[in-house]
Amino acid sequence: MSEFGAWLPSGQRSRRKAEELAKRLSVVESRNITDLRDTPPFWTRARGANVEDADGNILLDFGGAFGVSLAGHGHPTIRDAVQRQSDLLLHGMGDIHPPRIKVELLETLNALCPWPDARTILGTSGSDAVESALKTTRLATGRTGILAFEGGYHGLALGALAVTDREHFRVPFVERLSPHVSFVPFPVDAERGLEAVEGVLASQPVGAVIIEPIQGRGGVRIPPAGFLPGLLETAHRHGALVVFDEIFTGLGRTGRRFAGEWEDTVPDVLCLGKALGGGLPLSACVAPATIMEAWPPSAGEAVHTSTFLGHPLGCASGLAFLRVLEDEALAERADVLGRQMLSDLREALTVGPAGNRDVRVRGRGLMIGIELPEPGAAVEAARRALALGLIALPAGPEGRVLELTPPAVLTPDQVNRGLEIVVDAVLRVP
Ligand SMILES: Cc1ncc(COP(=O)(O)O)c(C=O)c1O
Repeated sequence: MSEFGAWLPSGQRSRRKAEELAKRLSVVESRNITDLRDTPPFWTRARGANVEDADGNILLDFGGAFGVSLAGHGHPTIRDAVQRQSDLLLHGMGDIHPPRIKVELLETLNALCPWPDARTILGTSGSDAVESALKTTRLATGRTGILAFEGGYHGLALGALAVTDREHFRVPFVERLSPHVSFVPFPVDAERGLEAVEGVLASQPVGAVIIEPIQGRGGVRIPPAGFLPGLLETAHRHGALVVFDEIFTGLGRTGRRFAGEWEDTVPDVLCLGKALGGGLPLSACVAPATIMEAWPPSAGEAVHTSTFLGHPLGCASGLAFLRVLEDEALAERADVLGRQMLSDLREALTVGPAGNRDVRVRGRGLMIGIELPEPGAAVEAARRALALGLIALPAGPEGRVLELTPPAVLTPDQVNRGLEIVVDAVLRVP
């Protein structure tokens, strides 16, 4: 028998304990947080690509817990590092008496980034990294204007929300959001996409252009070839800096260390999160010294910091993740696995005998989207997959894209069974 982590899913055989936990949660958590209408599984333990819920059901995690668990849940190197660190120093004073481990994390992280003189501001959430990037570009260019893309998702803190484009998140708070943000369509055609960018940059003093090199929550949308290099050229010609939000795509997920590499592009500012922390909350805004030195040196009160910045456990976990990323060649594994999964899914869902010509399968590495014709269809497919024991999330504004972002440590049996479930769930959606 293989170890837990490499198991096949059992399906959701029982939900009794989940129902009891849902009842308890409903009277203690603000009702806007967890959707309890269709009782979710309550996770109790996880390893590799497996999750066990409170009812003892074994699930196969094709969502990678929001794309975080690229190295698999509870990777032994990461767990050991966190355990060792927790014996030494559980909490420090990030910007005043820095934990020693913060230096080691930053040295390792910066050495993986595409500049010889990288400088980093750490955070604990993806939103934090985006806030830091928006502040950095404001200081470095002196300009207030920001250009962002329709369908983009950069987080829900007020700065990040201002550049996130989804009515659902924005409408209740719209008057609190920066009025200096313009949106252009996420490109389908490189030339027309660049014309739209040019139109805004030529008419307003924009300091920052922020883009996901592949839109994740927007529905796994890949920009057309040539767009990202053109975006950098256009932005620089107009004196704007380009921020790549690689919080979802970064550090191996798309089969490259950074998704920008697919187009040989290097941004001015890079945001990282999710996978970076190896399962603990950790994010980073990274840029070359020439840009980061727009910030004044800290003299007592840092103008941008937070209580848990450089948290020792997050740093230890992140450092261990970066070692695993390199030692276990996670990006290469994501590339190989992703190509196989994409081709199997295309065959089964679109061209094979049972295939549906209106379904679209796309992706890079282990960031795969299955676009279905009807609004809400991916929500239904995700519900069916979960009943069979597979976790996958719907994406895109209309819930038409089923997003697959599994760990890079799936076994061949898990890939096969997982794809069977995905195909079954997708093809049965009316
Ligand atoms: C591209 C991107 N940026 C930013 C964020 C926000 O990260 P967090 O939820 O950790 O604040 C996300 C989260 O899904 C994301 O996908």
